[in-house]
Amino acid sequence: MTPAADQWWRSAVIYQVYIRSFADGTGDGVGDIAGIRSRLPYLQELGVDALWITPWYPSPMNDGGYDVADYRDIAPEFGTLALADALIREAHERRLRVLIDIVANHTSHRHRWFAQALAALPGSPERDRYIFRPGRGPDGNEPPNNWLSLFGGPGWTRVTERDGSLGEWYLHLFDVTQPDLNWQNSEVRAEFLDILRFWFDRGIDGFRIDVAHGLAKDPALPDLDYIRTSPYPIHAPYPRGNHPFDDRDEVHEIYREWRAVADSYVPPRAFVAEAWVDSAERLARYVWPGQLHSAFNFDYLRSPWNASELRKTIDVSLDVLNPAGAATTWVLSNHDVERHVTRYGREVTAIPSVRERPAAPGPSDIALGTRRARAAALLMLALPGSAYVYQGEELGLPEVLDLPESALRDPIWKRSGHRVRGRDGCRVPLPWTRRGPSHGFGVNGSWLPQPPYWSDYAVQGQREDPRSMLSLYREALRLRRDLPALGDGSLRWLTDGGPDVLAFAREPEFACAVNLGETFVALPEHSRVLLSSVPLVDNTLPPDAAAWLAT
Ligand code: GLC
Repeated sequence: MTPAADQWWRSAVIYQVYIRSFADGTGDGVGDIAGIRSRLPYLQELGVDALWITPWYPSPMNDGGYDVADYRDIAPEFGTLALADALIREAHERRLRVLIDIVANHTSHRHRWFAQALAALPGSPERDRYIFRPGRGPDGNEPPNNWLSLFGGPGWTRVTERDGSLGEWYLHLFDVTQPDLNWQNSEVRAEFLDILRFWFDRGIDGFRIDVAHGLAKDPALPDLDYIRTSPYPIHAPYPRGNHPFDDRDEVHEIYREWRAVADSYVPPRAFVAEAWVDSAERLARYVWPGQLHSAFNFDYLRSPWNASELRKTIDVSLDVLNPAGAATTWVLSNHDVERHVTRYGREVTAIPSVRERPAAPGPSDIALGTRRARAAALLMLALPGSAYVYQGEELGLPEVLDLPESALRDPIWKRSGHRVRGRDGCRVPLPWTRRGPSHGFGVNGSWLPQPPYWSDYAVQGQREDPRSMLSLYREALRLRRDLPALGDGSLRWLTDGGPDVLAFAREPEFACAVNLGETFVALPEHSRVLLSSVPLVDNTLPPDAAAWLAT
């Protein structure tokens, strides 16, 4: 079902551009706006509806740009504001909407506010924009509480005051270069409303909200109960809404204000929340009326390749989000998790913890993972709601597990004391051509080394091959646009396939069947096979395969 134009996000397929690794238009080894502009025809041909571009702001790039030094400009390595304007305009000309990332939990330590905070005195308005506290113990030598950085190591760092003495501590739930903002401060709230307007005025269609669950903190800053503290922390469960910094109820006040700004534009702008929360019920709170439009469905991303688990996640997601009036989203991969081709090739296919690398122990059978990823794409794109495609997923890229240690850039690697390799393996620059420097990513090298087998995954080869992952995505997206049954709406489960089969009907006249078991199964009743993840013989669906059917 195609919703009204101002509700495009209810059924959109949104392509995530991790800007450093998408396409390098300037030949410096780093992806950029020029690269994205040159590849807009590719995205249009792929058939997505929108792109979400990861942070492109000036930044010391200690966390791939999620450490923002200036929210109203573009990093020189990515381009200029004029180039961003041109990209937004050209994307719109191609009927592609543009979302960008807003990082509101923290700034970079290079943000002017943080410099002002360091230069100011304890208790000053400049310090109050962040979370500064005196240390504990007689000399203030102990951090204000026991919170740890989610990347590993301490969550507080002590500063040197203007007179050279050891002073207060500031909170950083991520890297030491990412000081947390104080969202109880009215200047912080007003500043972000203004930043939203700055970009809405430039024509962007919406924002992906980074760490949307983390902005509100318990002002008492109580100690946390940790189950494990290294190589990165895991804390004990908390009563819902009452964790000192995760998913606190006050966070919703912020989004009601943001929504009012988005709604003041014609057409209204949209938000998608990156909210890592405990349950679908908690997630639904972010998309209650008057708040955000959508939220990533990470329960789905974390689910194992198992029919009953996936069905449970799908049912709960639809049951909980639909009454909130929100459309459901589906996502298999992003720049923070192991690529799903690799994950689905393992014995354990769930993601128990997002920071874990590899996602689960044991080797990965890439051929099996790829076969499952093909089926998973057809499942995801047939479900009611909108879907996210992480760049390179349409090429079937696996996680690069053997990047040399000297190449690793993710702050997790350093902060975990070189015990957790981090997220670089899913961020390796895309291969566009079979040969040539950096496989057509740019005209020179690439900021992370590409493995030699990257040429087998290049767009160039896949475009001409009807059996490629790229051809499957293109065909599925083409059908998704054409078929009134797909996109927003509802589904009806078909139950005759057995416990390892997910089969559902969508109106009018469409069915999707996915076989997650080990034996061939009969296809549900149909008049015609529209698309299948593997060639079908005798009306049966092989193991780890999916089909779209006209009924
Ligand atoms: C989000 C981003 C991740 C980043 C973190 C801190 O989870 O997706 O890449 O490291 O926020 O900003």
